[in-house]
Amino acid sequence: MSSSGWAVRPWTTDRLDDLAVLARAALPDEELHVEDLAWCCFDDPPRDPADGRVGPTRTVGVDGPDGPVGALSFALRRLSGLTVAHAQLLAVPVEMRRRGVATSLVSHAELLAREAGADTLQLGGAAPFSLFTGVDSRWTDALCLAERTGFDIAGVELDLVASTEAPSAGRHVGTSTGWVEADCDADGPAEAFLARHHPHWLAELRRGVRRGRVLAAREGSEVVGLAAHSVNRAGVVGPVVVHPDHRGGGIGTELMIEVLADLRARGFERAEIAWTSTVRFYALACGARVLRSSLSCAKRLGRER
Ligand SMILES: CC(C)(COP(=O)(O)OP(=O)(O)OC[C@H]1O[C@@H](n2cnc3c(N)ncnc32)[C@H](O)[C@@H]1OP(=O)(O)O)[C@@H](O)C(=O)NCCC(=O)NCCS
Repeated sequence: MSSSGWAVRPWTTDRLDDLAVLARAALPDEELHVEDLAWCCFDDPPRDPADGRVGPTRTVGVDGPDGPVGALSFALRRLSGLTVAHAQLLAVPVEMRRRGVATSLVSHAELLAREAGADTLQLGGAAPFSLFTGVDSRWTDALCLAERTGFDIAGVELDLVASTEAPSAGRHVGTSTGWVEADCDADGPAEAFLARHHPHWLAELRRGVRRGRVLAAREGSEVVGLAAHSVNRAGVVGPVVVHPDHRGGGIGTELMIEVLADLRARGFERAEIAWTSTVRFYALACGARVLRSSLSCAKRLGRER
């Protein structure tokens, strides 16, 4: 039972449709697909030790007399010696706001997270299996809630957006590109490339091969770059990475152009590029613009305000 009155209960995958309804009502502009929610909010998808998860991904919810009124999903990960509970989704429909539903959900999640040994509760940020980078800086209600319930702002991330419409052709750079296939090379050169240069993206690559699309640039048999889309959320690009020795030669641009064309062919008119560390590259490669800034909101558990 929560401290502020609403009864919070565990939700299993049989409540996926209710979660989708709440997500649509709370975040109508976000186009969260049911498959994305299934993937990020419940424990059914196969787990990969490389993604750092140390416990099941859980969803808890509140049912009012007329149906569900709020839900919170969180995933537990061990990161640099700390166990962090990442809230993947927190949703209360507009007509049910300011009645303490989210406060109950957050305090219940805190309790569960503490019991599971978590040191910190964070809003968003569970790469490589996150729905949100953090709290969008335009989500006033969520920022008010975060302030009220004792979260601190730890940083800012940028997400960009690009049109998928015929990006201008890049320089031809002499690499060949091809989609990574689960049955032939997911465990081969693509994994070897990431294991060597970006081991923290291995889990994302595997998820991308299973669920989304991963494009590899090759020189001979060697992989020199990778770009993925729809790994966690349909239509979202990332990660994109080029071998350190091959940067600045147009491989990244070539990968982006092909990834955007693939999204176009699948019906996406625009693509979000999540968690970008460089605006300049994406602005030049595909005319990307800043879509949003997301705040990393974190609360040390055990501390009450
Ligand atoms: C954020 C959200 C979950 C809050 O749900 P909620 O049930 O209305 O939250 P609560 O009623 O528990 O409010 C808790 C506190 O947050 C603050 N707060 C929330 N909305 C506020 C607003 N519009 N103005 C001022 N304060 C606000 C208040 O301090 C409130 O406590 P108080 O009423 O005792 O002062 C809800 O607005 C929502 O679903 N937003 C869209 C989804 C989202 O942004 N999710 C977060 C990222 S995944």
